[in-house]
Amino acid sequence: MTGSQGLFWAEAPGRVEILGNHTDYNEGVVLGAAIDRVVHVRGIAQAHGRISLRSTSYSPVETALSGVRLQEGNARWANYPLGVVIELLSTGVPISGFWAEIESEVPAAAGLGSSAALSVATAFFLLKLARRELPPLELARVCQRAEHRSAGVHSGLLDQVMSIFGQTNHMVLFDCRSEEVRPVAFPADLAFIIADSGIKRELAAGKYNQRRAETHAAAQALGVRALRDASSAILNADVDLAPTLRRRAAHIIGENERVWRACQLLERGDAGGLGELLNESHESSRTNFQNSTSELDELIDLARKQPGVLGARLTGGGFGGAIIALCETASAAEAAHNLAHGGAQTFVCRPAGGALARN
Ligand code: GLA
Repeated sequence: MTGSQGLFWAEAPGRVEILGNHTDYNEGVVLGAAIDRVVHVRGIAQAHGRISLRSTSYSPVETALSGVRLQEGNARWANYPLGVVIELLSTGVPISGFWAEIESEVPAAAGLGSSAALSVATAFFLLKLARRELPPLELARVCQRAEHRSAGVHSGLLDQVMSIFGQTNHMVLFDCRSEEVRPVAFPADLAFIIADSGIKRELAAGKYNQRRAETHAAAQALGVRALRDASSAILNADVDLAPTLRRRAAHIIGENERVWRACQLLERGDAGGLGELLNESHESSRTNFQNSTSELDELIDLARKQPGVLGARLTGGGFGGAIIALCETASAAEAAHNLAHGGAQTFVCRPAGGALARN
């Protein structure tokens, strides 16, 4: 690629899930934020309907736009951007040939929404190139479908929504039933420490889809449309529910309740209360949803012992990946340093802005 004429550029952030674990595909509520680590996509239009994808981490992929399909082997990394091409074409966006270079700052497979950030950055880039716009939630769904297609994981909309709607200094409250997106101010004197356990998530291995099926089965057994419509009272009534399904339901119901409580606590400026909710959430992940690992539990124990840490939990799908700790800003660097000393890759962040594109 030479010169900067006709160069298009997009970036999309990864995300942290603050509370509302696995609630998105149960029509529940979730509180998250975009982080200041992004995926960059830059490139140009290219003649003859060719698609050329370059990555700073993977081998190049060349393919024709006509009849574009998913790749095998070493080229599989390109399935997220190619999945977005396929989905945009099917919504009627006129995609032409293009050359694009991709660079990611979001740790992969750490539960920080790296694949959604890649899909969203690609979608912003391609829309800019095509001089088209899509309503943000429709764009989120395009990227979600691309991800379902590429990874075979039936994830909810959390990652894409946070990457698109992220706002500096604000968390994002997403109601996955009404699809309302609301910014919630993040306390000025707090930060998040993100610590990656280094254990790659095994989402595609089927545990995620299994949890999805279990929660849907629990809703059906409880006679509600989705676990969003169940409550602790319903669960504690004398209903006949298999013990595993009861635990899965307890997690989702508890997570929805914790999201609402967090919003109330934040209105009162009760940061300590928010930290407690993070601790409760992790305990429920550990015992009810069983999506933690011994490495994540150890990291969380260590995080909770650090100065200024108000609470900690796993973030995202679980089964490996990263934790977040809510921390007073004044102590965050020291706490992160101590966690890194324990072997985890850590960084300190505050809620960041969402995806952008320009040319
Ligand atoms: C993954 C999925 C999200 C969400 C979380 C768990 O990050 O991509 O849709 O389900 O797990 O809350």
